[in-house]
Amino acid sequence: MIGTVTIGAGEIELCADFADLNRRAGEHFVEISQAAMAERGRFAVALAGGSTPRGLYTALARDQFRNRIAWPNVHLFWGDERCVPPTDKDSNYRMVCEALISKVPLPSQNIHRMPAETSPPEAAVAYEQELRFFFETSPGELPTFDLVLLGMGEDGHTASLFPHSEVLRERESLVAAQYVPKLGSYRLTLTFAVLNQSRNVMFLISGENKAAALRDVLQGPPQPESLPAQQVKPISGRLLWLIERAVAAKLNIE
Ligand code: 6PG
Repeated sequence: MIGTVTIGAGEIELCADFADLNRRAGEHFVEISQAAMAERGRFAVALAGGSTPRGLYTALARDQFRNRIAWPNVHLFWGDERCVPPTDKDSNYRMVCEALISKVPLPSQNIHRMPAETSPPEAAVAYEQELRFFFETSPGELPTFDLVLLGMGEDGHTASLFPHSEVLRERESLVAAQYVPKLGSYRLTLTFAVLNQSRNVMFLISGENKAAALRDVLQGPPQPESLPAQQVKPISGRLLWLIERAVAAKLNIE
């Protein structure tokens, strides 16, 4: 890690490279999980998909972190999922199984997979019910994750909350299903209502192709429809951006 900068409502940790980003993210994951266990006896985390977070999940399965996490009390959820079978190469669930679940002593009942192989609207309803059951939410109450992990695309999307999509304005539902024209496929995603309820939100940003979007998201004018990641503003939780130094090159950071 090179340094920590406070910007807007969040903290930025500049990381020397991808390995440093994964090491820092692993330390935060351990710290947050241990605090959650101490306070509530369990740790509920919503995982990010895509390729960047695979590095963290792989690191968490290694001795440096593996033995510092009380896996029997960890509950894995997904922040979003591609609407494909769990065995599909594009499945975020499959990616986490390969990188982490297959290597740690996590009880199967602690794995809360999005049923993305079913019809998207039905899957969204089913996952919302699973969230409400697990978090024992009363009507109108939002589930509170201990940690939500997020990535960001070069178009400023996060989870599967894409620019100019209707789901950006969803404030009632916890989970949404939507067709993403640019991808030609359906996605499931937690809504901003859930993301912003979390006690901790941690972005993992790697890839120089995101530098311009990152600058616009963090330091540009508000464009919440064009840059959905700007809508991640935890109500009372901590917002942390772990950013590879090369991607932060366009940021105006003293
Ligand atoms: C997904 C992710 C998505 C991802 C960004 C960044 O399912 O693809 O949830 O939002 O975080 O697209 O992806 P990379 O980290 O692979 O660049």
